[in-house]
Amino acid sequence: MADINATVSNILEKISKMLEKPYNAMALGAGLTFLLLLLYHVTSFGGGYFGAFFTFLHVVSGITWIGLLYYFNLVQIPTMPKIPPELKPGIGKYIAPEALFWFRWSALATVVTGLIVFSTSSAVHNLTIITGGILGLVMAFNIWFVIWPNQKIVLGLVPADDDEKTKAGRLAMLTSRANFALSLPMLYCMVTARLVG
Ligand code: HEM
Repeated sequence: MADINATVSNILEKISKMLEKPYNAMALGAGLTFLLLLLYHVTSFGGGYFGAFFTFLHVVSGITWIGLLYYFNLVQIPTMPKIPPELKPGIGKYIAPEALFWFRWSALATVVTGLIVFSTSSAVHNLTIITGGILGLVMAFNIWFVIWPNQKIVLGLVPADDDEKTKAGRLAMLTSRANFALSLPMLYCMVTARLVG
């Protein structure tokens, strides 16, 4: 019994050590997914499977994107005015650049995987998914061509005076708010296109 306990706590210790790195957690998740893929779907490989697998990648990148959009709009932006001035650089210099990196690249990954899924014969091609796709494309355009260039000014990656920084910050915030609003009809279309039509 003592041996089993020691082995279990040894294994748990090794897993805990591994999970300290986020990329290891992602690798573990990918490994478990691959296991299920082999167990359940290896006999279904073929035309339809390609679209299904890309829908999975599409939803993973979409969650990363929209999760960060909700973090910005529900947590970071509303909390900024409450943070003491001496602590603000912690957000501006460390958290925001990292969050914006994942934000814009997951948006691009969502667009690319969404367009790949749309190009497959197994995808629905009705007005609902076209509306959702267009809303998603508008949101991704906003990130790459409005929010990110203005955030670069706010973060000091592009030289600008204080007045320009304030204006850029407001435009980035309002565009992010517009994306927050558009995310609901976009997601409604994504989820109902196949289920309802
Ligand atoms: C950016 C442009 C986007 C395009 C072009 C696009 C395209 C598509 C397509 C073609 C489908 C497959 C519909 C079907 O055949 O059932 C789909 C499904 C879906 N998309 Fe998007 N999408 C986009 C953005 C997003 C975003 C931002 C999310 C956020 C999570 C998202 C989440 C989903 C979900 C949850 C499904 C349903 C999967 C299912 O139930 O089968 N999409 N999308």
